[in-house]
Amino acid sequence: MHHFRYVSQRLHCESVDLAAVAQLYGTPTYVYSAATMADNYARLLKSLAGLDVQLCYAMKANSNLAVLRHFANLGSAFDLVSGGEIRRVLAAKADVRRSVFAGVGKTEAEIALALENGIFAFHVESEPELRRINHVAGKLGVKAPIAIRVNPDVDAHTHAKITTGKSGNKFGIPLRQAAAAYEAAAKYPNLTLRGVQMHIGSQLTSVGPFVEAVQKVSPFVAELKAKYGITYFSIGGGMGIIYKDALASGEAAWWDAQPADQRPLTPETYGAALVPLLQPLGLKILLEHGRFMVGNAGVLLSRVEHLKRGAGKNFLVVDAAMNDLVRPAMYDSFHEIVPLQRDTARAALVADVVGPICESGDCFAKDRQLQEVGEGELIALMSAGAYGYVMANRYNTRTMAAEVLVQGSAFELVNARETFEQMIAGEKIPVFLK
Ligand code: LLP
Repeated sequence: MHHFRYVSQRLHCESVDLAAVAQLYGTPTYVYSAATMADNYARLLKSLAGLDVQLCYAMKANSNLAVLRHFANLGSAFDLVSGGEIRRVLAAKADVRRSVFAGVGKTEAEIALALENGIFAFHVESEPELRRINHVAGKLGVKAPIAIRVNPDVDAHTHAKITTGKSGNKFGIPLRQAAAAYEAAAKYPNLTLRGVQMHIGSQLTSVGPFVEAVQKVSPFVAELKAKYGITYFSIGGGMGIIYKDALASGEAAWWDAQPADQRPLTPETYGAALVPLLQPLGLKILLEHGRFMVGNAGVLLSRVEHLKRGAGKNFLVVDAAMNDLVRPAMYDSFHEIVPLQRDTARAALVADVVGPICESGDCFAKDRQLQEVGEGELIALMSAGAYGYVMANRYNTRTMAAEVLVQGSAFELVNARETFEQMIAGEKIPVFLK
């Protein structure tokens, strides 16, 4: 469920007409719905009632300071993966002390920054990393709280580039070696064993793999609790969202109409399956969802440059490109594309929706059926709130897009469009070329 819908044939985010946002701030622009994020947060927590749960929102999905502040206000902590992300949490005046620090290659400087700011726990991915964290903690004269990421070797049935819990992935320590890793960790003088963690992949569309992973890892978790007194189990993130029928899925009726055996994963299904498995552990449960929290809470607004009619092929050339939203080029991902002004009297159009970048991969959709739209008209790429702006880049010397946050009828620019001067500010011609 989300808060994007047509009101008098004009696409709105909550009570804001998106064409007005595009008019004011130009395109391409990301627009996020604060109410959708708040609803997602409340719904996820409600579905896990009966557990002692802390959401550590995976801020890699969308780390705009306003989004972080919003989640902090709701009660969320953060799953962070770099020194930069620690600094973002601090800049948003949010809480590092309840947040966790993941990633396979934390540098000494990043570890020190996390310790200085009272990180809740490091999620450790290897034995060399234990040594490194112990070393940095020793230098600072503190004890570093840690959890080891175990790799349960479960197939998440998702895109190969975003599956993480198989034995061939670079993440975590295999379950059968994890006991030895904890034993090693317990011997380090500057480490405290605080928990255990796993994360099997992203954009999971059924509950089965989550259940399998929890069942597989739970006996080990219980052992760790008995042996070391660990206090939490982080089951990671990974809950998928609707991409194909993104707009329609904002309505309860769409969910009701899905055949029971094909109903997409919901937080309610997730909770119903996992609560009974997790409750007996008697531990705090950490969640690290990113995409589910923000994915359907954001769109990317873009303007049509041309409708280029070819022989047997039409191209809708828009002003957003693969640098702004890289997911279709990188993962062949599907994003629904809708006009901001709906006109049911218009003819249908089948076209490839492409950006202006000089390579064929710069394509948002192939042979997509759309309402006919022409030069100057506006479209929205749906489900762009997660892994959208954060993965954007400046390829073809295109500046970073703007970001806007909506709440009710209020909206504000929360990240100004980058200027050319800002983009080249760090560059210079070396003396030997002058
Ligand atoms: N926890 C850990 C340890 C992770 O590695 C990730 C995501 C998450 C939590 C959050 O997963 P989520 O709830 O968002 O599925 N760029 C890709 C997704 C990469 C996900 C990486 N790790 C995409 O655009 O699909």
